[in-house]
Amino acid sequence: MQQKIIILDFGSQTTQLIARRLRELDTFCEILPYNKFPQGDKDVIGVILSGSPYSVYDPEAFKVDLTQFVGRLPVLGICYGAQYISYHNGGNVEPAGSREYGRQNLTTIHKECPLFHAFDDNSQVWMSHGDTITAIPTGAEVVASTESVLNAAYYCPDARLMGSQYEGHCPVMGVQFHPEVFHSVQGTQLLRNFVVDICGGNQDWSADNYIETTVRELREQIGSDRVILGLSGGVDSSVAAVLLNRAIGSQLTCIFVDHGMLRKNEFQDVMKDYECLGLNVIGVDASDKFLSDLEGVTEPEKKRKIIGRDFVEVFNAEAKKITDAKWLAQGTIYPDRIESLNITGKVIKSHHNVGGLPEEMHLSLCEPLKWLFKDEVRRVGRSLGMPEHLITRHPFPGPGLAVRILGAITREKVRILQDADDIYIRGLREYKVKLSGEEARRVLAAGVPADMVDGEIEVSLYDQIWQAGTILLSEVRSVGVMGDERTYENPVALRAVTSTDAMTADWAHLPYDFMAKVSTEIINKVKGVNRVCYDISSKPPATIEWE
Ligand code: XMP
Repeated sequence: MQQKIIILDFGSQTTQLIARRLRELDTFCEILPYNKFPQGDKDVIGVILSGSPYSVYDPEAFKVDLTQFVGRLPVLGICYGAQYISYHNGGNVEPAGSREYGRQNLTTIHKECPLFHAFDDNSQVWMSHGDTITAIPTGAEVVASTESVLNAAYYCPDARLMGSQYEGHCPVMGVQFHPEVFHSVQGTQLLRNFVVDICGGNQDWSADNYIETTVRELREQIGSDRVILGLSGGVDSSVAAVLLNRAIGSQLTCIFVDHGMLRKNEFQDVMKDYECLGLNVIGVDASDKFLSDLEGVTEPEKKRKIIGRDFVEVFNAEAKKITDAKWLAQGTIYPDRIESLNITGKVIKSHHNVGGLPEEMHLSLCEPLKWLFKDEVRRVGRSLGMPEHLITRHPFPGPGLAVRILGAITREKVRILQDADDIYIRGLREYKVKLSGEEARRVLAAGVPADMVDGEIEVSLYDQIWQAGTILLSEVRSVGVMGDERTYENPVALRAVTSTDAMTADWAHLPYDFMAKVSTEIINKVKGVNRVCYDISSKPPATIEWE
């Protein structure tokens, strides 16, 4: 049995964070849309109701039938979730006098309540709501307050006290603050109290455990069939391939397409890595096709569409040669799949994945990493013995340098960008920073490989950031001077961001001496570039990639 917590998503931006926190507690959890509770799933040990952009009074507010799980399983409502439970169980919710937002301290805490076990006095929490609970559910008691929010948390030890419609005696509780966000200092403790003490979770989710279970399941699922997998050089597809290789060995054939817009020497380097890992890989150099189809195309979405289409064509042509293949494996990870409730429904950028294989091939989909977050994929990769440089590799967009060359793409521009980018990325890998105290602990907790010596760690800039890349502003030219010569060439922009999931990102505060060195080296060595800028935009409102 794989114990799990179900998080019902009412559309909050922080729902994924709840799942992240639970996984940090080595607890398996699944995010499902608010109306998709998996009735009859015996592995579920508790339920969390997320926040929502709606008020319980909004006519379009998301509604759920609480009798499906309240009483049968322990339930924790967060923000809207807490308000929803109150509103439907004899309590009351009203617009807050002023929007209750930001850091607050819990002035009263009932520490005998299991939800607040081991809490400190005045523990800081993060609030963000327009409505507030003015009366808690029947049968519950207030277990924490702040100066301005009396009903910051409530606890009902037995759902039957709330109403006879509930079958079962499990406890129900709600918090109006967000334990999942960083600013709720003991938020993880609260979630631990819920998962371990209240739901009886045994915290048995680990990389080794995942590998063992997944290898067994893959063998059962695939039997003696043949599987095709599209490799990209990135962490996800590489870990998926190694995991499958462990499960089914030579039944797996990998295809790695070079579209001509990878990083400098990347195709050759990665092919070597894959061979060392014992993978059966077919490398396809299709750069001529991609570059000729992209000739003269400047519009970002058009570039993406052409690359997506060409990729499917090239991949299919190879895949069709493996006539007895029954499965298509992909490195899809959990955040790619979460059916989050996109309230606006707007497409910002169309990210392409391998897809659209012809139906006549009758391939079934196999996604061995579909439950993992990015850092968990890395943990699994390490447990599988993969080399550190493959595991810690930054994310790289499918369309590659095509979305980092602003304007039309040519071979010469790709060469210029590859050279500039190579200097930047090598520089990031070589520049080491010493960290101590809280900063060092944070970096180690994120899985960055480093040894603690005398309370200090040394890590490269590369390993400290989420992603870095160089952008060629090929439609901009500026005047410069080199020796006695006037130059009139393109600038490049350097981008480096910190992030945990690419949904939001901050620009990395790289050291000035590093930037000075890289800028000089790029301008001196890369013909065609006479100016280097650094991108200091965060996401939102900017995105990580420029196109
Ligand atoms: P943005 O630019 O939307 O990027 O902030 C978020 C993350 O996604 C990566 N990215 C892509 N990945 N195909 C991919 O596989 C794509 O078309 C694509 N576009 C952006 C980007 O590098 C960042 O990690």
